[in-house]
Amino acid sequence: MNMEYHNPVLLKETVDGLNIKPDGVYVDVTFGGGGHSKEILKRLGESGKLYAFDQDKDALENAIDDPRFTLIHENFRFIKRFLRFYGVKQVDGVLADFGVSSHQFDVAERGFSTRFEAKLDMRMNQDEGLSAFHVVNEYSEEQIKQVLLQYGELRSAPAMARLIVEYRQTEPIVTSEQLKLVLKKFLPPRHENKVLAQIYQAIRIEVNQEIEVLKEFLLQTPEILNERGRLSFISYHSLEDRLVKRFIRNGMFEGEPERDMFGNFEVPLKKVGGLIVPTKEEIKINNRARSAKLRIAEKV
Ligand SMILES: C[S@@+](CC[C@H](N)C(=O)[O-])C[C@H]1O[C@@H](n2cnc3c(N)ncnc32)[C@H](O)[C@@H]1O
Repeated sequence: MNMEYHNPVLLKETVDGLNIKPDGVYVDVTFGGGGHSKEILKRLGESGKLYAFDQDKDALENAIDDPRFTLIHENFRFIKRFLRFYGVKQVDGVLADFGVSSHQFDVAERGFSTRFEAKLDMRMNQDEGLSAFHVVNEYSEEQIKQVLLQYGELRSAPAMARLIVEYRQTEPIVTSEQLKLVLKKFLPPRHENKVLAQIYQAIRIEVNQEIEVLKEFLLQTPEILNERGRLSFISYHSLEDRLVKRFIRNGMFEGEPERDMFGNFEVPLKKVGGLIVPTKEEIKINNRARSAKLRIAEKV
C-alpha cells in the first residue's frame, strides 16, 4: 500500500460496514491512496467489481492494476451518470472517506495546509476554475462573511471579511502568508493554529463546493443501491456529519419525511449500528483520524 500518500482511517470498520458479498459491485467514491479500495478488493471474489472515483489527478497514479477495478477521474457528484456510462445501474455498496487526503495536505503548492507558505489554491480538482485566490480576492465582503460564518463557524467573520476587503484594495492577497498577516489580530498566539484551521476549512469547503456536492451525491445513493445495499461513510467535520446523519434518518436534509398508513416514516435507508469513531490507539498512530465519524446505512 502507498502509505506515504494516505494512511486509511477506520479501515476495517468502514469496509466491514459494506458487508461485502464476494460477487457484488462496490464503489469507493474517494479513492485517494487506495487504502480502502485495496481492502474491498481483498474481500471480493473473481466476479466482484469495484469502481472508484477521485477528482484529483494525483490520485490516478495510485490506480490498482486489477481486472476487477476501474478508476474514474470525476467528481462523485456525478456518480449515477458515470456508473451508467460503465453500464452499472445498481451497486451493493458505496464507501466514502470525505475530505482531503494526507497527500493533498502535505504538498505545499496545493495550499491546503496551514503549515506552509503557498499560493492560495485549495482545489481538489486542479482543472476547476474556482480557487482560494478567487474566494479571497473576488468575492464580495458579504460573500466572504457568509463563507467564514457558515463553513468555519467563526464569530469574527464580519470583521475578518471587512479586513480582507480593505486590504485587497491596495494589493491582491496571493499567498497564505499574506492572508495570515491580514487576519493576524484574529489569531491569538495560543490558538493561532485552531483559528487558522477554521479559516482554511471554510475557504476549502467553498472552493470545492463541498456541501452542495455532498447533498447532490447523497440524494443519488438510494437510487443506485440494490435492496439491502450498504453505505459506509466517514466524515471529518460537523457540517458534513450532520448532513449524512440527517439523510440516513430522514432521506432528506430539512424537515421530516411523509408517514405511511401505519404512521411510520417513509424513508429509503435505515441506519446500521451507531456512530463509530477511531480508538485512541488509532489516533495515536494516525493523527488525521482524530475527527473521523463513521456512519453505516442499508437500503430498505
Ligand atoms: C480522505 S481522502 C481518501 C483516502 C482513501 N480512502 C485512502 O485510503 O487512501 C479523500 C479523497 O477523495 C477525493 N475527493 C474529495 N471530494 C471528492 C469529490 N467530490 N469527487 C471526487 N473525489 C473527491 C480527494 O481528492 C481525496 O483524494
